[in-house]
Amino acid sequence: MSEDYNAESVACFDRHAQRYAEKYFELRDYDRFYRALAEALPPNGARFLDLACGPGNAAAFVRQACPSADILCVDRSPAMLVVAGQRVRGAVCQQADCRDLRSLAPGFDAAAFCFALSYFDDTDARRVLAELARLLRPGATLLLSSVSGDPAHSGPQHSSSGDRVFMVYRRPTTLAEMLIEAGFAVDLMEELDSPANASQKTVDVLMLARRNSVPAD
Ligand SMILES: C[S@@+](CC[C@H](N)C(=O)[O-])C[C@H]1O[C@@H](n2cnc3c(N)ncnc32)[C@H](O)[C@@H]1O
Repeated sequence: MSEDYNAESVACFDRHAQRYAEKYFELRDYDRFYRALAEALPPNGARFLDLACGPGNAAAFVRQACPSADILCVDRSPAMLVVAGQRVRGAVCQQADCRDLRSLAPGFDAAAFCFALSYFDDTDARRVLAELARLLRPGATLLLSSVSGDPAHSGPQHSSSGDRVFMVYRRPTTLAEMLIEAGFAVDLMEELDSPANASQKTVDVLMLARRNSVPAD
């Protein structure tokens, strides 16, 4: 893969941000997982991070459930952040690459990292999960969701419109192992069929995890 293989994937999301939002923002398939995030927030001074937020699906749910929470939406795509800003009232939207989140202050009470891990190779995926472990306070809740699949199918994927994204498929057990290695305890893990309107049929993994008190080495 190229040095910044991820840039082409992000450019694709940037081009299609509005269409992505129209297709996936209203989906209610993951509400019970988003609810667990909202329930993990303290009544006062709550800080929530939606990492690789896209149009802000998770953040919008949390905003409805916790009107006073401080919500930070982070994505590498400027167009996605514009959409998130329109759809998540009062959220702060910040452009950043989730492999380097040094500009963010730690201490979040909960975070969502949904359907983005597959755009990273193993080295970068571990880097993102380590950044999440650093940013979440001990005991904080993380929702990690990802497509799963046969690692042999990883690589550039082409769409009929000529777009190309770089995808890394992982088995559900590998996803759980990576999360544990990064310093999280997995409380819940479910495998679900991708949404009915998804462009590609996959089995998706959703995990609710807690940041350990003692960070991983
Ligand atoms: C499939 S969308 C998921 C959006 C949203 N989290 C959801 O659940 O619908 C993947 C998102 O990851 C973002 N992304 C990909 N690489 C990124 C990176 N290096 N840093 C930050 N965001 C990234 C894309 O711009 C896109 O918005």
